[in-house]
Amino acid sequence: MCGIVGYIGSNTAADILLEGLTNLEYRGYDSSGIALNIDGKVQLFKAQGKLQNLKNIVQNNYAEISKSKIGIGHIRWATHGVPSIENAHPHTCNCGRLAVVHNGIIENFKELKVKLEAQGCTFRSQTDTETIAHLVASKFAQTKDLTEAVRLATKEIEGAYAIAVIHQDVEGTIVATRRNAPLVIGFGEGENFVGSDIPALIQYTKKAMYLDDNQIVTMTADSVKVIDSDNNPVALKIENLPWEPVALSKMGYKHFMLKEIHEQPDIVRNVLTGKLSTSDEPVILKEVTLDREKLKDLSRIQIVACGTSLHAAMIGKYIIEDFCGVPVDVEPSSEYIYRKTITDENTLVIGVSQSGETADTITAVRQAKKKGSHILIVTNRPDSTMAREADSLVPVNAGIEVSVAATKSYMAQVISFYLLAIYMAEVKNSMPKEELTDLKHELVILPQKIEKILTNKDEIQKCARKFSSFKDFIFVARGINFPTALEGALKLKEISYINATGYSAGELKHGPIAMLDDSMPVLAVLMKGKVYDKILSNAEEAKARNARMIALTDSEDEKLEELFENIIRIPEISEILSPALAIVPLQLLAYYIAEFLGKDVDQPRNLAKSVTVE
Ligand code: F6R
Repeated sequence: MCGIVGYIGSNTAADILLEGLTNLEYRGYDSSGIALNIDGKVQLFKAQGKLQNLKNIVQNNYAEISKSKIGIGHIRWATHGVPSIENAHPHTCNCGRLAVVHNGIIENFKELKVKLEAQGCTFRSQTDTETIAHLVASKFAQTKDLTEAVRLATKEIEGAYAIAVIHQDVEGTIVATRRNAPLVIGFGEGENFVGSDIPALIQYTKKAMYLDDNQIVTMTADSVKVIDSDNNPVALKIENLPWEPVALSKMGYKHFMLKEIHEQPDIVRNVLTGKLSTSDEPVILKEVTLDREKLKDLSRIQIVACGTSLHAAMIGKYIIEDFCGVPVDVEPSSEYIYRKTITDENTLVIGVSQSGETADTITAVRQAKKKGSHILIVTNRPDSTMAREADSLVPVNAGIEVSVAATKSYMAQVISFYLLAIYMAEVKNSMPKEELTDLKHELVILPQKIEKILTNKDEIQKCARKFSSFKDFIFVARGINFPTALEGALKLKEISYINATGYSAGELKHGPIAMLDDSMPVLAVLMKGKVYDKILSNAEEAKARNARMIALTDSEDEKLEELFENIIRIPEISEILSPALAIVPLQLLAYYIAEFLGKDVDQPRNLAKSVTVE
């Protein structure tokens, strides 16, 4: 949530900051700003709304602005105070000589504000961030040392933060620090960078260092120094980032979401690489360190996650219980953390998060860790805060996902759960070998089936055009595809703002059926298998109430033509693996409906890619 970027070097800082903010725009986009040092004076440029508004301001003042070779920038997802120019970052102190950008939440900002106001500080915004600006400025007045001022200020700040600061009395220097919010340093030749996430700097350098909690970096164009909160020097641990800048290009697609949906066949191949070579060999999960004997004796598994990751977790529950016979509970992290959970050292706790920075899930796994549970993290970001809490890791290898609506990362999580469930079943010897071999074979050929869906989207587009004007939408499924219905509905509501809900088809008649009439489309996920006939009966019941029926199916059954006015057909697949295929048309349906409605597909209103506040 929110994005930070900082630059010091010999190039035009504003260009680099705006480029970085563009690549971070998926993290929040209700206002933005940069602070530059122009001719020895710190100056702020801010805009409400999309980043383009800030770009226009920079363009109109470019002659002046382009002189600056140092600056910090921010893109905001509002937590304290409405989106406005006053509340947009950077924030400054009374004298205006210091500027700060901040991600996270300062929990004791009210107490700090009262203290600072008593000392004569005048607050101009409703943000918690402004307290940092005044606090660091007051420490700087005492110490005349920006690094020390930041260090002393952080001793008084409670909460989660990543911050970057410049001060006009300390020319050519950026100081930055973090606690429970990510921050990465980028190393260049005669220039250095800081960012809240890799996309902020990947265009310029692949040499980077992740800062740990409470470490403080002081950078100039030619030097980078890191200390800990007690002023001890910290050795630089520079690594080569595995990311390619091309991940931040739409590659000819109209939106990142469409590009990312189309990447899914390759994503499945990536996830399988090194973990599943052939259907005859066991699954290898190198970073799962849970002792095999302990794994055999596990009494329960709890999975915590939010949103789309929660839906992947629900599929995980279904298959782990089915393959391994171990009870699995799945719970939204935000619920898990506020009750007395029955968690102990015989419980495996799995945290699922594409970003690895979701505050609720981080808190949930930390709570479980304290109770002695082994923590396994399924994430797309092995470099994330959550991954650092892990005893075992399943990296999902989906690459950078720019679209706020998760698609390819969901696919990668789902495939990772199949691998994890097979791995556990192989250790526990809990499933017939032939069944596992068949499943592994199906996983290997899954990318080709996804490709078939992606090359034949006519029916999905037709359906999207026909139903894009409806105000409500129901998705129904049963069994292992119930989470598919939930995820299909979530994708539609978050990017088109249509009131879409997923139900277990069997639940329809216990209430939701009251809503059905000819203004309600009902999409039934109807994959061949145990519950096919049951869902068909549920669909008949909905049809009898005049609902507008759509089927998503791998069945060629001609009977379906009478019941459904639109049928989206997908390649045949075993029921157990069907969620990995059935989700693709639902992602496309959501995409095309939002596109027809002219919505901002990649940056839906009110959302942000990673939710780092509880
Ligand atoms: C929806 C979406 C969100 C996230 C949720 C958790 O498309 O992306 O629902 O799944 O905010 O985020 P992570 O997976 O980063 O923990």
